[in-house]
Amino acid sequence: MHSYRIAVIPGDGVGAEISEEAVRILNTAADIHGFSVATETFDWSCDRYLETGEMMPGDALDTLGAFDAIFLGSIGDAGKVADHISLDMLLTIRKGFDQYVNLRPIKLYPGVATPIRTATPETVDILVIRENTEGEYADNGGFFKRGTPDAFALQTGIFTWKGCERAFRYGFEAARKRAKLGTGEKVGRVTNCTKSNALNYSMVFWDEAYAYVAKDFPDIETDMALVDAISMWFIKNPQWFDVVVASNLFGDIITDLGSMLQGGMGFAAGGNINPEKIYPSMFEPIHGSAPKYTGKRIVNPIASIEAVRMMLEHLDEEEAGSHVQQAVMSTLAAGEVRTRDMGGTNTTDEVGAAVEQAMRASA
Ligand code: IPM
Ligand code: MG
Repeated sequence: MHSYRIAVIPGDGVGAEISEEAVRILNTAADIHGFSVATETFDWSCDRYLETGEMMPGDALDTLGAFDAIFLGSIGDAGKVADHISLDMLLTIRKGFDQYVNLRPIKLYPGVATPIRTATPETVDILVIRENTEGEYADNGGFFKRGTPDAFALQTGIFTWKGCERAFRYGFEAARKRAKLGTGEKVGRVTNCTKSNALNYSMVFWDEAYAYVAKDFPDIETDMALVDAISMWFIKNPQWFDVVVASNLFGDIITDLGSMLQGGMGFAAGGNINPEKIYPSMFEPIHGSAPKYTGKRIVNPIASIEAVRMMLEHLDEEEAGSHVQQAVMSTLAAGEVRTRDMGGTNTTDEVGAAVEQAMRASA
């Protein structure tokens, strides 16, 4: 029997309650699909920072390195620790484990309401590949002459050829695998999310990497749009998009927008992937920690459950992954158990239990 070691970092705010539902579904999948899971929970959080002066211990990456995958609840509580300090933990793991792909599917499941009129289960099926280790998040810069009238700050984006190329290559390969456009001459489409009309070094370079990689994928349609225009087109014509490859910051922004196409932040999950599997990958809901809702058990656990689904797929437990997805879809389609964001009154754990129930009923 295959056995997986999974690190769980609940984090701050509602992180604990959604992590419980993630672990519930992980254990259910293991039960049904004949593998075993050993989870270990780490209390790395703002509370830990207040006690010890650090979010996570200095050897955190060594510790996590022994796991097959990581589930992250949510980090940050600005009332306790400034966000740029607490969230550094997230960015350190992404960079330290070379999780250079941030996989963010945008899919609207039947039964889920969205405020966007163009969004239907038929029109919304997009995969955003966000470059996840460099670009605008490269952590390069400084404050100068601080506290004087001549103060200034510098924040420099770093775009390496290797970094751009591998993000695009992953995107093209994903499009080939999805084959969203069917079996014609072009089986998929990769949209390059750029801003090379204004960012005349970084994004021109980024476009060059896109064109270079595209040459190896004659079966994939090429497409390019400026990030501001993509924000408009996501709403106006979501069905156009198949795979979108974006830099770190642009990918961050368009996936919050994309979450509204899929019904809101309660549904949006992401995987921080090290494709070579040299390091563990990390899966998380893309929403924040919502400290004001802590312990109220009102937040939607579907995003976290979807993160578990992505984790299972990454671990090559394809059957278990698709079973989780089926159960999520049937629960949402039935519409009987709904958290507040879905217009219901059920608690976080009631929704998690409903998905578990759906899995057991269809095992
Ligand atoms: C995300 C988040 C993070 C990011 C923040 C919390 C640093 O918004 O995962 O999308 O910008 O990457
Ligand atoms: Mg974000």
